[in-house]
Amino acid sequence: MTREFLGKRIVITGASSGIGKALAQHLAPLGARLVLAARSEDKLKAVADALPGGALIVPTDITKESDRRNLLDRTVDRLGGLDVLINNAGIASWAHFADSTEDILRQIMEVNFFAPAELIRKAIPILTQGVEPAVVNVASMCGRRAMPAWSEYSASKYAVCGLTEALRGELARFDIDILLMIPGLTKSEFSQHFLRSEGKANIEYDKGMPPEYVAERIVQSLRKNKTETWIGSDTNWMLRINRWFPRLVDYLVARKVTKLYAAH
Ligand SMILES: NC(=O)c1ccc[n+]([C@@H]2O[C@H](COP(=O)([O-])OP(=O)(O)OC[C@H]3O[C@@H](n4cnc5c(N)ncnc54)[C@H](OP(=O)(O)O)[C@@H]3O)[C@@H](O)[C@H]2O)c1
Repeated sequence: MTREFLGKRIVITGASSGIGKALAQHLAPLGARLVLAARSEDKLKAVADALPGGALIVPTDITKESDRRNLLDRTVDRLGGLDVLINNAGIASWAHFADSTEDILRQIMEVNFFAPAELIRKAIPILTQGVEPAVVNVASMCGRRAMPAWSEYSASKYAVCGLTEALRGELARFDIDILLMIPGLTKSEFSQHFLRSEGKANIEYDKGMPPEYVAERIVQSLRKNKTETWIGSDTNWMLRINRWFPRLVDYLVARKVTKLYAAH
């Protein structure tokens, strides 16, 4: 299957920055009709104003049920339906679990897991009426190999991967495709939004992939209807090594973290 984008009605969550913004910039010139969602209205407006053909902006806190309902209602009112839902919005905390809090764990699960899960549930009846309908879930390398100091985030992204796999079987009867994206380190505004930033390793976000590259790979995979896409060389080598030598990865990671924490 090759999915065309001309006229496709696409909702992107987390469209005010990073990968979501880059997705909007990739999809708009292809003729997609976009709905951009995030909390920051001013940033959404700036993104939409710069797109050829513009976009509908719907300020949305995806953790609020009323906002999720409003996002889908406005999409149907203005565009007459929905063809693709891209669950991209996400947050993280980079620090140790032992001195983290229940509130941080719950916030991360709310944004990264419960909100997209409930958006999918609400969107199913609308997507069934769509053209070549699909759900795209942006997870992370941490959703296939969990990492220390990313415990809450890794757990939330594992949950996204699990839900996606389960729904692949369930949504087939509605002819809705569900695709999983697994990006590695990306040079976005992600690290500026961390709930905590106290992990010890020096993560070089400046050396991460440009969001435009990640967005291009996501759009390619959506076009080709690719079930799961690993994005970036770090993701590819880490997940390949981990597939065959998980105990070795456990050992090396534990040794590194122990050294880093002993040094502080
Ligand atoms: N950057 C990386 O290294 C990396 C690697 C792998 C996977 N990812 C994943 O890629 C996705 C996009 O991240 P990014 O790198 O583009 O980070 P980003 O630049 O921080 O973008 C995150 C987006 O999520 C939105 N958002 C956060 N909380 C929200 C809420 N409650 N309701 C609605 N929108 C919300 C933010 O907008 P507002 O603040 O305006 O609401 C923003 O548009 C995330 O799911 C992330 O986990 C990132």
